[in-house]
Amino acid sequence: MLVALCFLFSIVFAASSRTFTVVNRCTIPIRVFFDNDDSGFLHTGRYLTGSKPSNWSGEIYTNSVLNGSNDAGPGMTRAVFNDDIYYIIRDLGSDFNVGVTIAPFSAPEGGLCGTATCTSNKCRNAITYGAPPLTLPSFSDQFAPTLPFYACHSNFAFRVTFCPKTSDGYPGSSSNPVEIHPNGNPDKCLDVRGAKFANSTLVQIYDCNGTPAQQWTIVQGTGSIQAAGTIYCLDAGSGPKNGTQMRIWQCSNGRAAQAWNYTNGDHIELSTSGLAECLDLKDGNLENWSVVQIYQCFDQNTNQVWTTVPEVPLN
Ligand SMILES: *[C@@H]1O[C@H](CO)[C@@H](O)[C@H](O)[C@H]1NC(C)=O
Ligand SMILES: *[C@@H]1O[C@H](CO)[C@@H](O)[C@H](O)[C@H]1NC(C)=O
Ligand SMILES: *[C@@H]1O[C@H](CO)[C@@H](O)[C@H](O)[C@H]1NC(C)=O
Ligand SMILES: *[C@@H]1O[C@H](CO)[C@@H](O)[C@H](O)[C@H]1NC(C)=O
Ligand SMILES: *[C@@H]1O[C@H](CO)[C@@H](O)[C@H](O)[C@H]1NC(C)=O
Ligand SMILES: *[C@@H]1O[C@H](CO)[C@@H](O)[C@H](O)[C@H]1NC(C)=O
Repeated sequence: MLVALCFLFSIVFAASSRTFTVVNRCTIPIRVFFDNDDSGFLHTGRYLTGSKPSNWSGEIYTNSVLNGSNDAGPGMTRAVFNDDIYYIIRDLGSDFNVGVTIAPFSAPEGGLCGTATCTSNKCRNAITYGAPPLTLPSFSDQFAPTLPFYACHSNFAFRVTFCPKTSDGYPGSSSNPVEIHPNGNPDKCLDVRGAKFANSTLVQIYDCNGTPAQQWTIVQGTGSIQAAGTIYCLDAGSGPKNGTQMRIWQCSNGRAAQAWNYTNGDHIELSTSGLAECLDLKDGNLENWSVVQIYQCFDQNTNQVWTTVPEVPLN
């Protein structure tokens, strides 16, 4: 995903470039743009870097992920840079679909180099899209720019984090789809084989690719784990036992084979099973096509740990 970024500028202006690290802490993949350059999908818990001239004026933004659109559209979240000044734009009349922070890799000093934050759709600390500032404020080491503008010295890099607080529900709320990773591995995803949404399609491990085959909705209450936007649910079959292969089946409220308990220990356990049976990575096999199974639950077994938001490998 890094190759899509244009590193040309870093070569031409080698002495005065600025690095931007973009982090996705949302519970689903988001598509990242540097102005018109599409960097593609950035998976949950991952980051990418881009290099621009240190006096770059432009926007780093994501698409309207909330309702699955791939297009830039209402609800976009934009981190805006203009030389040493930076700020957030929120779309007119629209909720943020994700929160964002812009943080220099530098401690704040004298009112400079602060972190611009917007984690709520009530956020006031942003410019409304369609009403761009005509003049940017001036600033110096003694005088910080007026909010919602921020400034930092040109020799510092920046980190832009989308969904800095996953608890916000932008778009991390339970009704929104998530990827489900074996044992916190952000590269591997629970996947509907062949994206064939039909009774009895096997459920397997596959490299995360941002496709609908890997988007799941964990429905509170019933405990069902539904292939997002479809009528199919993770299903343990009529006689679940050690080694039963997992499939999807048409969702049916109250069906024991579809009632899962996503426990605090990150186990996905059949609620109604007296035998305590868990979703299990067969033989720890993380290869593509590895079909997942049901197995007796074991507390210390990492083959039974499933996570939706892997750790971001950055401070
Ligand atoms: C950025 O700096 C370069 C090299 O100093 C200069 O050629 C260019 O015009 C500047 N761009 C802007 C937008 O100020
Ligand atoms: C979702 O899609 C509809 C129809 O395209 C659009 O009107 C709406 O603004 C979108 N919402 C968000 C948050 O992107
Ligand atoms: C899928 O299974 C459900 C429940 O067993 C059944 O009602 C439905 O007709 C099946 N769908 C197809 C296309 O066979
Ligand atoms: C499932 O496997 C475990 C461990 O291998 C074993 O102790 C248990 O008896 C098995 N359960 C059934 C129902 O065979
Ligand atoms: C789910 O598992 C937790 C233990 O992690 C347990 O306290 C809770 O009662 C279980 N819920 C159901 C519905 O089985
Ligand atoms: C899994 O499949 C993808 C897509 O075909 C491929 O790029 C990747 O290398 C495969 N992963 C492994 C571990 O073979």
